[in-house]
Amino acid sequence: MVENETGHTGDVAHDDSRRLGVLISGRGSNLQAMINAVAAGSLDAEIAVVISNKQGAGGLDRARAAGIETVVLEHTSYVSREAYDGALVAELRRREVSLVCLAGFMRLLSANFVRAFPHRILNIHPSLLPSFPGLRGQDQAWRHGVKVAGATVHIVTPELDAGPIVAQATVAVEQTDTPDSLAAKILVLEHRIYPEAIGVVLDGSWRIEGRRFLSD
Ligand code: GRF
Repeated sequence: MVENETGHTGDVAHDDSRRLGVLISGRGSNLQAMINAVAAGSLDAEIAVVISNKQGAGGLDRARAAGIETVVLEHTSYVSREAYDGALVAELRRREVSLVCLAGFMRLLSANFVRAFPHRILNIHPSLLPSFPGLRGQDQAWRHGVKVAGATVHIVTPELDAGPIVAQATVAVEQTDTPDSLAAKILVLEHRIYPEAIGVVLDGSWRIEGRRFLSD
């Protein structure tokens, strides 16, 4: 058993459930990549529910088109972050979700939410973490003038964009790139590595040492 920075042991109990709960706020292209990977058989998982904190999120239509249950939980209806996160946890538990995937979910999650799914929340971020956490990582990277950019899938901890890194992919930044063209290149990477990383985490042959994610 290994104590790590996330406050949990590295020796995580894995179950056989492969039920995903996907949280979105917007267009849902990463959700679509998961839907496609499940349909193609490259990701052995079931998307049990898609939850959005925004009524008009485009990803809701993608989920409905794929026959996936959708839930809209608007944070504006709750008095506090804790109350909202408690409702989210309840919706996810009701559907026996074993892995929570943040896919453009534009809300900070409370420590209580993170504790409800220890090592069982993933996020995709459009930069090579730990560089450029927070909003619009692609723009931050472009403005900084980096020559290599990329995407990161990480385990979610209470600290923003700081959990153990499961997967990363890189792309060269050309002088002709604009923030939009760079974001488009990074998005291609996201759509590849997120379903792959979900598969790795579901397969369960991994551990965390310190803050290093190690898989067999
Ligand atoms: C992606 O760039 C992702 O990295 C970030 O939010 C964006 C969501 O895009 N966390 P989409 O809704 O999956 O298309």
